[in-house]
Amino acid sequence: MSGRMGQDAARERRKDLARFFGTWVRNPIKMGAVAPSSAHYCATMVASATTHVEGPILELGPGLGCVTRALLDAGVDPARITSIEYDAEFARTLKERFPAVNVVRGDGFDLDATLGDGGATKFAAILFAIPIVKLPQGERQALFGRYFDRLLPGGNLTQLSYLWKPPVKPVAGRFDASASDIVWDNIPPARVWIYSRTGARPLH
Ligand SMILES: C[S@@+](CC[C@H](N)C(=O)[O-])C[C@H]1O[C@@H](n2cnc3c(N)ncnc32)[C@H](O)[C@@H]1O
Repeated sequence: MSGRMGQDAARERRKDLARFFGTWVRNPIKMGAVAPSSAHYCATMVASATTHVEGPILELGPGLGCVTRALLDAGVDPARITSIEYDAEFARTLKERFPAVNVVRGDGFDLDATLGDGGATKFAAILFAIPIVKLPQGERQALFGRYFDRLLPGGNLTQLSYLWKPPVKPVAGRFDASASDIVWDNIPPARVWIYSRTGARPLH
């Protein structure tokens, strides 16, 4: 990117940093991060997700949409994407930025209530960025188990994380965990944790 477009993107990034930080000051637990993920991080998240599997894609905790943008940059049809964001202001901005994406303001922990589909919609990939520090390990595993019920065959679940160990411990016979390299230009450095059905072939 160069010239005017590059300057516009840099200006938008600065504004997003300020807005994200302000929201974090008001609600650090719900935000879980002081800054939006870096473009390199978002591209790593998308490259780790099974977007090649046919079907809809679910993004949980999109914030101001850096992963959404990375999905579109990777050539994903916006009509495939549903993004669930809890913060009303962020959801409004996402709708303006990505009019062709199905942005839903709601709780990504409760898909049945938020999607109101009785569990019917299955996804090719779930990209997860909601903070879960407050949840005990058993609840995390149960939550991810419910997400796996929503994944199509061959689909995976990718998670934004600053931890060196999988934030959700693998469940024997259900799902395994692996990780991307650390992305050092993210604030703070982060990796993508990748959860796949036990026995599934790795993506790369
Ligand atoms: C760590 S930020 C990640 C934002 C973006 N994906 C990124 O990588 O920069 C977490 C986001 O999850 C949202 N969030 C928190 N709890 C949520 C929930 N229960 N359902 C949906 N979104 C939630 C926050 O409002 C915030 O936008």
